[in-house]
Amino acid sequence: MIITADRYPTYSVCKRGLTALFAQDAWKAAIAASHVTHAFMLGGGGSPAKDYELLLSLLSNPATKDDPIRMLLVDINPYMIAQSQDGLGLFIRDLPDRGRLWIQALEDDLLQLDHPDPVRKSLLERPKGAVFVITGNTIGNLSERRFFTALSGIAKKGDLLVVGCGIMDNISVNELQSEDSSKYTDHTILSFVRPGVEYAIRQNHLRQSLDHALKHSVRAEVRPGTQGGLSDVPGSCSVVLTLKADEGDIVLLRSARYPSKNLTAFAARHGWEPICVVPSPMDKQYAQFAFRFGKVDSENGIGERQ
Ligand SMILES: C[S@@+](CC[C@H](N)C(=O)[O-])C[C@H]1O[C@@H](n2cnc3c(N)ncnc32)[C@H](O)[C@@H]1O
Repeated sequence: MIITADRYPTYSVCKRGLTALFAQDAWKAAIAASHVTHAFMLGGGGSPAKDYELLLSLLSNPATKDDPIRMLLVDINPYMIAQSQDGLGLFIRDLPDRGRLWIQALEDDLLQLDHPDPVRKSLLERPKGAVFVITGNTIGNLSERRFFTALSGIAKKGDLLVVGCGIMDNISVNELQSEDSSKYTDHTILSFVRPGVEYAIRQNHLRQSLDHALKHSVRAEVRPGTQGGLSDVPGSCSVVLTLKADEGDIVLLRSARYPSKNLTAFAARHGWEPICVVPSPMDKQYAQFAFRFGKVDSENGIGERQ
């Protein structure tokens, strides 16, 4: 299990992008207009520095200056949650406004959040506006369709959504495929997948050592996202990391990147209208998307919710 935030290859890129988003007038106007007092961090473990940036942004919102601010960390992995709680505790310790903050955690599958359950329901309740946040390219590891379906099942009109993910603007899947894919197996990424490789060797009783596997058996391949159901967003591409083994190849990780327009259109079909797209100052091919739940732009959409 991976519980050390700074081992994510995109961690700093994503965090800097969030800071840039929170500095935007469009963002400040959106949290003010929606009276955002609740933040739901989806796949939200392991990134207390990002949580802290969001808390600062919500605490400084003049429209909710007297309200308590609640943050719920939702993650399937309890170790990721524990790491966030420890880190956040340290970050907020000296904040003059810390008395306004409530931090809670829910160990749960974020793709099931729309399934009725009294505990979930009570934790997702809020009297004012909410922001849902999915950063660290987590959306690229999931079925986007399932993600947006679950989310739209619990969102209310005016709620906000932040998605931090890799983008592929002005570059085609073919161009990405012709690039040297060995960059996806550099030492940062290998150290990121190391616990996963160790787990795969143990679970599958593979006849190779961890070091041998990391050096010789981890391969990266860029595939069109829609190939084999890797992604639901048209035009996306996925980096697939595979552990080669005599016993059969094991997929360690898949991570999608999106043409910005296509991700925006996909979200719109699920009721999320775009507010702004902010590329990270550290990497123009990584962006933070901010959306507001409201109108639906196609007849296939799911309609407005109050
Ligand atoms: C790439 S990490 C990103 C974490 C971090 N919040 C960030 O922004 O850097 C993905 C996180 O999503 C969690 N996760 C993956 N699938 C999930 C699911 N179906 N439900 C809840 N959490 C999930 C993992 O446990 C992990 O903490």
